[in-house]
Amino acid sequence: MSSADPPNASPDAVKRSRYTLRQLHLLRQGSTATPLRAIAHIDLDAFYAQCEMVRLGIPRDTPLAVRQWDSLIAVNYAARPFGITRMLNAVDARKACPNIVLQHVATFREGEGGRWAYRDDSFRSIKTDKVSLDPYRAESRKILKTMKEELDRWTTEYTDDEIHSLTQGISAGLEKASIDEVFIDLSPLIYRVLLQRYPEIRPNPHDEDRDAELPQPPTTAVQWDSEDCLIGLDREEREEDDPDWDDIVMQIAADIVRSVRMAVWEKLHYTCSAGIARNKMLSKLGSACNKPDKQTVVRNRAIQIFLGGYKFTQIRMLGGKLGDQITADFGTEKVSDLLKFSLDQLRAKLDDHTATWLYGVIRGEDRSEVSPRTQMKSMLSAKSFRPSINSAGQAEKWLRIFAADIYGRLVEDGVLENRRRPRVITLHHRVVQSRSRQIPIPGSNTIDENLLFELAKTLLRQVIADGQAWPCANLSLSVGSFEDGVGKNRAIEGFLLRGDRAKSVTQSTSVREADSTANDHIPPEKKRKVDIKRFFAHPPPPGDPTSIGHDSAQHTDQEVSNAPSDEPEAPALAPADVLPQYNCDRCSKSIPEYEKEEHDDWHFAKDLETQDRQEARNAQQQNQQQTPPANTSRRSGSRGRGGRSRGKPEKGQMRLAFE
Ligand code: CTP
Ligand code: CA
Ligand code: CA
Repeated sequence: MSSADPPNASPDAVKRSRYTLRQLHLLRQGSTATPLRAIAHIDLDAFYAQCEMVRLGIPRDTPLAVRQWDSLIAVNYAARPFGITRMLNAVDARKACPNIVLQHVATFREGEGGRWAYRDDSFRSIKTDKVSLDPYRAESRKILKTMKEELDRWTTEYTDDEIHSLTQGISAGLEKASIDEVFIDLSPLIYRVLLQRYPEIRPNPHDEDRDAELPQPPTTAVQWDSEDCLIGLDREEREEDDPDWDDIVMQIAADIVRSVRMAVWEKLHYTCSAGIARNKMLSKLGSACNKPDKQTVVRNRAIQIFLGGYKFTQIRMLGGKLGDQITADFGTEKVSDLLKFSLDQLRAKLDDHTATWLYGVIRGEDRSEVSPRTQMKSMLSAKSFRPSINSAGQAEKWLRIFAADIYGRLVEDGVLENRRRPRVITLHHRVVQSRSRQIPIPGSNTIDENLLFELAKTLLRQVIADGQAWPCANLSLSVGSFEDGVGKNRAIEGFLLRGDRAKSVTQSTSVREADSTANDHIPPEKKRKVDIKRFFAHPPPPGDPTSIGHDSAQHTDQEVSNAPSDEPEAPALAPADVLPQYNCDRCSKSIPEYEKEEHDDWHFAKDLETQDRQEARNAQQQNQQQTPPANTSRRSGSRGRGGRSRGKPEKGQMRLAFE
């Protein structure tokens, strides 16, 4: 009950929810404007290690780590109690756990064609081999497909005709955030379940006041599964006696996510962990809280307890320089300390935008959208050389492997069916500094391994003509600026979205893919031009490694074979200066291409904040200008004192008095 309620309210009075009918109905389109939204972040446990366990049929209690040369790149949960982490090398891991299975990643090999293979001698073949992450990408695709199928089941099953017609075309949005993680906007699915369970909230033309607060849901409505990890269940609060609609939403979200995780386990034998909360930031923090094989629910009422325990530098966008600056300015890294500063105090040291954004984010606000996207935006194949290489002949051998690697991935991506094709190819090359050269891929040619190889050689000749080509410490080839071909199956991106929303998303996705500026006010044609110029622009200072949160230092001498914008984690293996960069033309910052989405989210969040503030200001001004008569005030009407008759809720009732 809110503090505004009279202390001696009659026990018969209808308890009001904090939420309105409008907020509930905004779930339908997964609007970021509703505080009732539910987002899940699902992350596979020890992903590469699980891939090897599944491939080799290794029991879950057998310690296993995946190695790349002498380094460990994934450690399963059975090996972790032995103190084995990614920081150890293979020899030390064996010392700590003599029975550990150390499986080397698959590799391409110089002179053995463009096929990757698992080879017993890879670990000592760093000079001739190049890592392939293809097997893990393939597993990632299977997992994603299973998740989608399960979500789809929630959109089609158990519905009557009315629900079917009311919820036609709605489904969850799924964003592949890296090789082993996804964000899912569950709001539309939850809306569907709510309509089904509570017929009273089905859209009704007679709903005269959509901004009226809803009645509280029945107290028996929320039943948590004993496996769910609930953040901050405060025993004093006896909150279970006072559930609100957001608790119900979270509990339905937990049911859906549990079923998705179960499907992945039953069909493919992978375990994963999930975070469920009202936005991306909180769900991502949540998924890491109870690994492995658990889901963590951060209910709205627990947000402050939850975030209070974090260092703000652990929050995305605050891991890098901005976080350092804030730490220095306010003398703390703790969210709980920063919460004590008023907005004005934050503004005194930070620019207005940053202060407002920060003020919200440490209070659990993040209105970034889940952008349905399951395809990669660029593909990179790379190799670091120790010692460096010194001739075009040596470089060309690797270019042939890169071309084969990328071509294989393009085939998986549908290039043969002409569904998507890259328009630009780039060669990155490092002597002391990284440099890159790029050319368009001629639209008239069929893309094959040879074409990519020939284009790469052309680029290499240009690099050599520029001078300072040797000794070369790192070479990589990438393709990007994908465009949809005629054979494009729009249903792929719209898989979980149908109707108008799917249309708008696929349209905007195809523009965004070809566009690294993502400024909505720029017409698509212009965006493409901007994009080509900027695509893989000259390497600026290294990006912010802490925002991906991995031990990149350990891996800097290793090689990468992955798609930066598709798979944020894996490029942590790469030296930041070989990664394609994106220049944000809103703030003039240079950031790694694969962090672009996150960076855009940040601007998006800031824009919304500004908009919100403006709206609040307007509302305030309007309020001052006209005080509404008491009987037309929404608030008083919504409390049921404006002549609206409301039924008396009974403990455990399923029918609700919505008029
Ligand atoms: N990865 C990597 N190098 C890094 C970070 C990640 O190669 N510096 C790879 C790992 O091999 C891993 C996958 O990317 O399997 C996903 O990374 P992440 O989710 O961070 O770790 P997991 O190994 O999946 O372990 P966790 O259970 O903690 O998620
Ligand atoms: Ca993981
Ligand atoms: Ca991950």
